[in-house]
Amino acid sequence: MPTIGTRPLGAHGPRVSVIGLGAMGMSDLYGPADEQESIATLHAAIDAGVTLVDTGDFYGSGHNEMLIGRALKDRRREDVVISVKFGTRRTPDGGFQPAAADVSAAAVKDRLAYSLRRLGTDYIDIYRPSRLNPQIPIEDTVGAMLEMQQAGYIRHIGLSEVGPDTLRRAAAVAPISDLQIEYSLLSRGPERAIIPTLRELGIGLTAYGVLSRGLLSGHWDPDRKLSGGDFRAHSPRFQDGNLEANLRLVGALTRVAERIGATTSQVAIAWVAAQGEGIVPLVGARRRDRLAESLAAVDLTLDQETLAEIEAAVPADAAAGERYAAQHLAMLDSEK
Ligand SMILES: NC(=O)c1ccc[n+]([C@@H]2O[C@H](COP(=O)([O-])OP(=O)(O)OC[C@H]3O[C@@H](n4cnc5c(N)ncnc54)[C@H](OP(=O)(O)O)[C@@H]3O)[C@@H](O)[C@H]2O)c1
Repeated sequence: MPTIGTRPLGAHGPRVSVIGLGAMGMSDLYGPADEQESIATLHAAIDAGVTLVDTGDFYGSGHNEMLIGRALKDRRREDVVISVKFGTRRTPDGGFQPAAADVSAAAVKDRLAYSLRRLGTDYIDIYRPSRLNPQIPIEDTVGAMLEMQQAGYIRHIGLSEVGPDTLRRAAAVAPISDLQIEYSLLSRGPERAIIPTLRELGIGLTAYGVLSRGLLSGHWDPDRKLSGGDFRAHSPRFQDGNLEANLRLVGALTRVAERIGATTSQVAIAWVAAQGEGIVPLVGARRRDRLAESLAAVDLTLDQETLAEIEAAVPADAAAGERYAAQHLAMLDSEK
């Protein structure tokens, strides 16, 4: 495995590995996962120098946090920066409630109490509301997180999928480490107004969906059968017509990757990492082979000629289909 360097997550966040690991797929949303392999993948990531591990209390309705808690029993807690999202509401059958996120001041303390217990730790490094609730002022949510930070239960305050106005309002209440948002060759929306605002405010960015949920990996099999609970079964980008158009873009990216002796995934990850010092791609690997492939992206330096070839292969706004279904997209503060 390559040696992973570190970079600062904005002016107020911790230093983290240049690539982080997102654990969501180990419990949810991408079909069945193997628990032993998930733990082995978490251990392999930490041993390779990945310090940032992202989860959500709602991933597998607590399962993902318990999994990370188990993996951490055999590693040093201080070697890992744990990022936890809260707020999204589930149902007992594994579904999602359409209700707005549970991010009131009371919910912050309540959900944090459960996360600490499931993770088997007495502090969370970065705590963040998963979505904005339009009925709850961001000042209330961040104010309650600031209280928890002052009490030592959380080290940093992050945000997820919010736009410039909310970023400014939140940053006026407390220092914000990073915004977590979908950002990839196929999802370049943040470049318009969000990334410039982050730079102005000294806030970092943790990018998810860097492989567009596997579409940009070079491994996507168009004949793959997806279970109803698989996010991609409902994602516009994976629907008939859009999928073929998107895979043509991936084909062009693969040709660039082949020219430089890399894989498609590595080029997609390295492209995000090349967009700025405060930008950290999260990879969604849940197997050691995928992790090894992803982490090797740190050895790729994309020169100007290659960056131009990548842009030509996958031009901005070329993706067929939105990144979320319409009803979800309408709830995103980042898309307003
Ligand atoms: N803030 C938010 O709203 C939000 C939303 C979504 C995710 N996230 C976070 O971001 C993390 C990453 O997001 P994501 O899982 O959507 O990212 P992603 O990296 O775009 O997609 C992960 C998918 O790519 C596939 N894949 C194929 N080749 C891979 C390779 N070499 N390395 C890694 N994955 C490969 C995996 O496939 P297999 O089927 O082979 O495992 C998995 O299904 C999540 O785990 C979660 O922590 C945050």
